[in-house]
Amino acid sequence: MSLFLVMFLVVSATQASIHGEFINRLDFPDGFMFGVSTSSYQIEGAYLDDSKSINNWDVFSLSPGKIDNGDNGFIANDHYHQYLKDIEIIQSLGVDAYRFSISWARILPRGRFGEVNPMGIMFYNKILDELTLRGIKPFVTIHHHDFPQELQDRYGSWLSPLMQEDYVHYAKICFKNFGDRVKHWITINEPVYFTIMAYQNGGYPPARCSPPFGNCSAGNSDIEPIIVMHNMLLAHGKAVKLYRKIYMHLQRQQGGLIGIAEVCGMFEPLTDNDYDQEAASRGLAYSIGWALDPVMFGDYPLEMREILGNQLPNFTTAEIEFMKDSIDYIAVNHYSTTYAKDCIHSSCSLTAAQPINGFVDRVREQNGVQIGEPTGVPSLPVVPRGFGEVINYLKKRYNNKPMFVTENGYSEPETPQLLQEALQDDTRIEFHKLYLLSLAQAIRNGANVKGYFVWTLLDDFEWRNGYRTRFGLYYIDRQTLDRIPKQSAKWYQDFLKNKTRPL
Ligand code: NOJ
Repeated sequence: MSLFLVMFLVVSATQASIHGEFINRLDFPDGFMFGVSTSSYQIEGAYLDDSKSINNWDVFSLSPGKIDNGDNGFIANDHYHQYLKDIEIIQSLGVDAYRFSISWARILPRGRFGEVNPMGIMFYNKILDELTLRGIKPFVTIHHHDFPQELQDRYGSWLSPLMQEDYVHYAKICFKNFGDRVKHWITINEPVYFTIMAYQNGGYPPARCSPPFGNCSAGNSDIEPIIVMHNMLLAHGKAVKLYRKIYMHLQRQQGGLIGIAEVCGMFEPLTDNDYDQEAASRGLAYSIGWALDPVMFGDYPLEMREILGNQLPNFTTAEIEFMKDSIDYIAVNHYSTTYAKDCIHSSCSLTAAQPINGFVDRVREQNGVQIGEPTGVPSLPVVPRGFGEVINYLKKRYNNKPMFVTENGYSEPETPQLLQEALQDDTRIEFHKLYLLSLAQAIRNGANVKGYFVWTLLDDFEWRNGYRTRFGLYYIDRQTLDRIPKQSAKWYQDFLKNKTRPL
């Protein structure tokens, strides 16, 4: 072969892979699981059916101006009534696994202060039975942002240690009723992100914050997030202790794995000066380590202690014991990467230049160039390389603990107005190809990643962005609630078909 031809092949192969053409299911190890993810409040609707109580998001949606377009989750995608159709769709994609969450207010409408709701149990039993019948592995999130409003009204929910008891009570009911079929649990979804949104900038219920983070009427953005995280982490640790002690060993419930999900965004230094390099590692420690260090090592990250000192609570010796190693795997939600700018030695916005944020500013532009293509969520530009980078970071910081990517997905920068436009979602396909390439490379370099879930199955209630931000493989017609496959659903289906390795 001539040198010219060899060079041509190398160059074109590189270009093709840069455009994501060459990603293939067989680039992933045997037994690697592919799936799709959803969460209860974002799809179920039926907000008062069968004794479900009002939850924190029902109440939040009712206060004017909180959610784009005045949307709410009262009907959502009506998954509560159409779950069978949705499971058929899931099966038709050819996935190995499906991640969904349980609605706390459906199972325990009044938390610890009332009875278990048999109709709530029945609903998730039907889902689990259907999945089992079809050979689809359930990954179940116990708490994904929604809880009975009564726990807020009685004692302020996560600001109070009483919430730990409520959470453990709820988790126990889930283990007891569903543990025979659920082999992968996720205790809490994105505790750091939830805490920041709900208690630092007021974007999620109970919308507590204080200047300079926002103009809420109640809250203390410096200290409340720290208390809330501590309660969430202890709730996680106590539930895992219970699970491992009792439920994992019951005869029909052996071998379940339990993890916690955190959004693991990547930080790259804005410049190559030492201060920005340090800011990038502080950014990672604050956004990832805040949740994962305690559940892996039994304490908060040193990088946080150095800045926050005694503002960060201490775990008691007994707590360290059950917090340490309280996960079997890391559930990684990944979307994007930003630059980190140091705010200790240079001037930043008032909100960034705060100890609670580690004096790190998230910047999306370097020398006038954007870090990646925009998406429907301005803070989440498309930066495929960052996926591999953050996986390598997790591999190193957490001794290559097993990881499942439990969320990765794309929403269009402009809400498509025409159906045809929404269905022809080439950019979403390109997004997945490029991110999967980056992931496959990290796995080839030894990262212990065992699965990948697309966020999300259906366009859904995207929290404060309402229904206009569409992350789904399936388009939802908001009038008829019809589920219509986008091109990306067909692409995923084809991608998943390729299962057999040549001998
Ligand atoms: C993470 C959250 O877990 C999920 O609920 C949300 O819809 C996606 N990110 C997209 O923003």
